[in-house]
Formats: sequence, C-alpha cells, structure tokens
Amino acid sequence: ILIKAQAQNGFQANYDEAKVPAYTLPDILKTTTNQPVQNKKTWEKVRRPEIIRLFEENVYGQTPKSYDRLTYTVKNENAQAMGGKATLKEVAIEVVKNNKPLTINLVLFVPNQKKSPVPVFLLINNRGKDNMDPTRAQKSDFWPAEMVIDSGYAVAAFHVSDLAPDDTTKYVNGVLQLYPEQLTANDGMKAIGAWAWGASRVLDYFEKDKAIDAKKVMVVGHSRGGKASLWAAAEDQRFAMCFTNCSGNTGAALSHRRFGETIRRINTVFPHWFAKNYKKYNDNEAALPLDQHMLLAAIAPRPLYATNASKDLWADPTGTYLSVKLASKVYELYGIKANLPANPPGINQPIMTSSVGYHNREGEHNLTAYDWSNFIKFATDQFK
Ligand code: GCU
Repeated sequence: ILIKAQAQNGFQANYDEAKVPAYTLPDILKTTTNQPVQNKKTWEKVRRPEIIRLFEENVYGQTPKSYDRLTYTVKNENAQAMGGKATLKEVAIEVVKNNKPLTINLVLFVPNQKKSPVPVFLLINNRGKDNMDPTRAQKSDFWPAEMVIDSGYAVAAFHVSDLAPDDTTKYVNGVLQLYPEQLTANDGMKAIGAWAWGASRVLDYFEKDKAIDAKKVMVVGHSRGGKASLWAAAEDQRFAMCFTNCSGNTGAALSHRRFGETIRRINTVFPHWFAKNYKKYNDNEAALPLDQHMLLAAIAPRPLYATNASKDLWADPTGTYLSVKLASKVYELYGIKANLPANPPGINQPIMTSSVGYHNREGEHNLTAYDWSNFIKFATDQFK
C-alpha cells in the first residue's frame, strides 16, 4: 500500500504514525474570541454558527439557500417493485432560480409493509448510475436497496452529476449555473458544496411526499460523497442523521495529522471540489482555523456514524476515529455521553453509542453490505 500510494501523482503520503507531526487543534469548546463554551445555549447561539462560517469561508464555500421554485414530477411509479415489497418512485425534482432550471433525478423505494410516513436513507451517489438501478436488474452493495427495504426503511439515491459533474472543468454545468456569483467568489461553493446542496433539495421534496417522514431523513455518502454527506448534515439541521463512509481528507479525518491524503494533494488533484480559499492551506495545515472534528461536532446532537476500511490508510482511520471522539464532547453538552475509548476499536468491531458510532471494516475503500448493515442497526437503535 505504501509504495502504491506514494507513487500517486508524485505525492509523498505518510503512513507512519511516528511521523505524524506535532499539532494543536482548535478547541471546539472555545469561541474564536477564546470564551469557553459550557452549555448548549452558547454552543447553538455562538460556537456552532461560528464553525459553520469557518467551513463556508475556508473549505466548502457558501451554500446558497434561496431559489424561486421547486416542483417535482413522478416519472414512473410502481407499487409492485421488488416482488411487491416496495413502491418505486422515480422523481424529477426541478429547482428554478433566475429562470434557470436544474433537475435532480431521484430514485426512491418505500416499503409496502410499513405504515407511512417512514424514515429514509438517502445516498449521495458518487459512483456509477448502475448502483441505483430503479429496475433492480443491476444490484449492488453500494446501494443495497432490498436490504434497506427489508429492514423497514425507505431508501433513496441521486447522482452527483445532476448537481455538478465530477470533473475539473465540467463541474460548473449544474447548480453553479443557477448561482453564477459562486464561480468567482473566493468562498464560492464548488462540486462538494453543490452535492450537499442537492441533498437538501431532495429533503425539500421529502417534505412534500407523505410516504416519507421528513423528520427522519438520514444522509449517507461514501468517500467524496461522504465529505458531501457531512457538509449537508452540518449545514442543514433538518437531516436527522449522518453516515460518512471512508470520507478521509476534508471528510471525517483530521487534516492536521497529514496522514495519507493531504490538503495540498486533494486541492491539486481535485481543484473543483472546494472553495478557492481552501488552497491557502496547501502544506499549511497549521494555519487552519478549524479541523474536521469541528464539522462533525456541528452535526450534534443528531446522531453521526463514521467508518473506515482497514486497507484504506489513504483515508486515515486513526485520524477519523480521533475526530469522532473529539466531536463527541459536543454531544455531552446535550447530556449524551459517548465515553469512547482512547484508541480506535479493532477491525470489524463497531462502536455504537447513543450519539456517535464508528467502525473500521476489514478490506478495501468501498461502501459495502457490511457498512449498510451497521448503518441500519445504528439507525434503529437511535429511533427506539
Ligand atoms: C480519491 C480522493 C479521496 C476520495 C476518494 C473517493 O482517493 O483522494 O479524497 O475520498 O478518491 O472519492 O473514492
């Protein structure tokens, strides 16, 4: 793994824990003017908004909240999908701003056995569209819709390319056409911000669909999609729960550690993901007024689950676990104690508390049935 990753684009990745530089993280529980945050009131009124602003300005960019109109068309409905277990809806969600339209194509299955409204898992799909095949001719563990339906949840997915194609130049052909001012601003959103924006528009749609419990929408993302699921949940407090799978650098892992992928590397290979301002921190993590534990904390008190894979050191499993542990301090302000152990758990040993959860799955960088089965278990515990 070491040699392979070191060769990646000529970047030197560190995989040696002993070579992690000494670093000081900004304290989640101190405001920028150094006031201690001792209760949820100060957290909600002062510190949390500060943190969101820090991420908007320095990392993901602004997320425009306003649009002129949101309409939707059910393009296809089948009440006998999955052998009669589910109702399929293919929905075209159209958002209009300044006469410019954007369409998000949602695939949604709702379990027939459950009384509506039901909670839903929403995947931000950053891989092939065949992973969300509405006909179910193609099935994939990346979005194991049958498994989720059998567990009594609705399951939905949209593809990131509807919002911003994952390409260094084509990313502008999507949401950014509706908000052209974002293209020039140093804190303008780019692809990851656009994907998160899309998740919120799907939530707007769920608020209109009586089959769905819009107060129980769980956003799921893998890797670059997991960076977007975190940002969506942090910014939009209507999301009830967040799952971030192998999200690594500028996802759930701590950037200051410079373990595996670094900010310079991510900004160089994926210049279309984050705001221009983020480039200031290339090889300059020490100057960051934030780290990713603060993004996770912004999701509190809503439940958060993060994962890694044992062979995916690029995404820094230890740095992810530490980030979750640090974020759990904020849940304590709400009286939810996580008591996470100091060291990461062993491989395939999920930790599930009443606030945060974490596992390091054996294997490669991927989103698998193992990951989903733990998401379902965690969600079910939370909703009890
Ligand atoms: C690359 C990238 C990661 C990203 C991953 C993925 O490896 O460096 O930051 O998470 O792709 O999306 O699979």
